Amino acid sequence: MSKCFLETSQITQELVDQMNQRSKHFEVLDQSKKDPKLNFGSYRACLYFDQPSTRTRHSFIAALQFLGISYSDFGDTRRSSMEKGESIQDTFKTLFTYYDIVILRTSDESVLDVAHVVAKSHQKTLINAGQGSKEHPTQALLDCVTLERERENHKLLRGSMSAIIVGDYDRGRAAKSFAMAYKNLGWGSIQVVGPAPLTKTSEYPVVPLSKALGEADIIYMTRLQSEYGGVSDAEFDYQDYALGPKEVSLLKPKAIVLHPLPRGKEIPEPFDTDSRAYYWKQEKVGFYTRAALIEALLL
Ligand code: NCD
Repeated sequence: MSKCFLETSQITQELVDQMNQRSKHFEVLDQSKKDPKLNFGSYRACLYFDQPSTRTRHSFIAALQFLGISYSDFGDTRRSSMEKGESIQDTFKTLFTYYDIVILRTSDESVLDVAHVVAKSHQKTLINAGQGSKEHPTQALLDCVTLERERENHKLLRGSMSAIIVGDYDRGRAAKSFAMAYKNLGWGSIQVVGPAPLTKTSEYPVVPLSKALGEADIIYMTRLQSEYGGVSDAEFDYQDYALGPKEVSLLKPKAIVLHPLPRGKEIPEPFDTDSRAYYWKQEKVGFYTRAALIEALLL
């Protein structure tokens, strides 16, 4: 496997199967609270996040801790020498001099490419933890691993599942990356549901929520990504794309509702106890999947 994980196109069925198996093993090991003896103690990692994050950041930290890898946080970029005008390239040259792995989340899509050139020349590992509104491949990987597990439990067949992506498709890197992975894996049909100004770039049919909900096996909910701008929130009512009681009553009895989180008001909290709510499980699978991914990149 290549040493870097940068694009959703790297997600294959083989990788999903490998991550599924290994993440299940890690979960059992973690719950036993015995030393997992994974022998990665000689590695060091750095998290470089210039955008807010709770889940991605902490699941990566927990994954590094689980593997025995020590880590540091780049911190606020304003406290780095970039504030004195240092280039992105020189910044990553420095990081890859000290660290074996850099986990990168950035609002500036081009930073990933610069960091990748440096990672390659230093033969080090770079992981894309969110690239502007473009890609979020580790989220797509954990979404697919979660689905693969539930697919087995729900007796859904790969190739004939139906998924809908609800909400802010155009600006949602998680939504777009999930759609791309699901499509590349050939798992089934995809439809998009959302306000017209937020679904302009969809290559999938855009359909009304009430029509799509009752037929979908997988419902991938997303929050409004106002931070990326471009469209005014006043142009639509996002509550029209929420799982209210009427929408919940349309869901299939064994539907799988996913959400990359954090949520806005599109999933009311009472739905968390519904047997079709899988997003809290999804975030847990994310921790073990990210640990399995780091391991695979280092082996
Ligand atoms: C997503 C992201 O940052 O793109 N969150 C995450 O990583 N779990 C989705 C979002 O912020 O809406």
